[in-house]
Amino acid sequence: MLMQLCFKNVHSLFSALLRWILMMVSRTLVQPLGIISRPKIRTKEQKEGSSAQLTTPSSVNYHFTRQCNYKCGFCFHTAKTSFVLPIEEAKRGLRLLKEAGMEKVNFSGGEPFIHERGSFLGELVRYCKQELQLPSVSIVSNGSLIKESWFQKYGDYLDILAVSCDSFNEDTNKVIGRGQGKKSHLDNLHKVCTWCQDYKVAFKINSVINTYNVDEDMTEQITALNPVRWKVFQCLLIDGENAGENSLREAEKFIISEQQFQDFLDRHQSVECLVPESNQKMRDSYLILDEYVSGVIFSPLQFSSHYCARDF
Ligand SMILES: C[S@@+](CC[C@H](N)C(=O)[O-])C[C@H]1O[C@@H](n2cnc3c(N)ncnc32)[C@H](O)[C@@H]1O
Ligand code: SF4
Repeated sequence: MLMQLCFKNVHSLFSALLRWILMMVSRTLVQPLGIISRPKIRTKEQKEGSSAQLTTPSSVNYHFTRQCNYKCGFCFHTAKTSFVLPIEEAKRGLRLLKEAGMEKVNFSGGEPFIHERGSFLGELVRYCKQELQLPSVSIVSNGSLIKESWFQKYGDYLDILAVSCDSFNEDTNKVIGRGQGKKSHLDNLHKVCTWCQDYKVAFKINSVINTYNVDEDMTEQITALNPVRWKVFQCLLIDGENAGENSLREAEKFIISEQQFQDFLDRHQSVECLVPESNQKMRDSYLILDEYVSGVIFSPLQFSSHYCARDF
């Protein structure tokens, strides 16, 4: 009974939140957060119309689950809840965002392939591409739970798959927590890279630079994998997630200085697909749409301490 009540409340709360989100998304609150595209040049009619025309949520990152099978010590989106919105509600939220101007969606987590063994994610990917006709549908994953059968079923609807890999030394991956049991993270990475080629999905790599990999030279391995883009993040602390009270991780020991990050970038300057993301750039640019689809209701200050890449 209590469960039922909670569930109903969550649903009605969600509807109210969505209306609120869309209103806020369209207003200036989102502008300083940079989640959203720059204000567009407006027609005379638009200028005379409501201020809701000022910005559009062109790029959205939806972290629909916080659950994960890995235990990366620096993780800034931790398993604080096990909540996942029912699929029809999630689709409804995505449709409303599309109506508000969303063009790109990126699914993240937690590990997005964990929930319903990837079929929840697959259905959202299909919905966004086939029904909402979004120009860009992407995923960021640790790569460990992806099966070829997923590509067979949903590959046609996916534009980009980013797999996270912080080191080409398996021992370093283990120290970081990127791994599960005896399975090799690097074997998974290579398998997924091949499937992306086979099923014509653009392949990307994300790496978090931290104290354990900061001296590594990844030039050869990245060049061989040939991703369309290699996103290189400076390890970031987020209060309540991987630092401070009530956090599930203590990531302080992973933190590197600006200079160390710059040295890593300099060492890899020959890698043309490298796109750096310093702590400052991450803090300034991102919106998170969390598992309750309520991320955008945080105040700008709290909000900017949450993270969600425009374009993983
Ligand atoms: C939170 S993860 C979720 C998706 C998936 N589980 C994965 O690891 O790719 C999204 C991205 O954030 C990165 N990330 C996690 N913690 C980070 C931190 N403290 N600083 C910078 N990037 C981080 C991950 O490496 C990954 O590329
Ligand atoms: S970074 Fe990704 S793989 Fe690692 S613990 Fe966090 S959600 Fe899981």
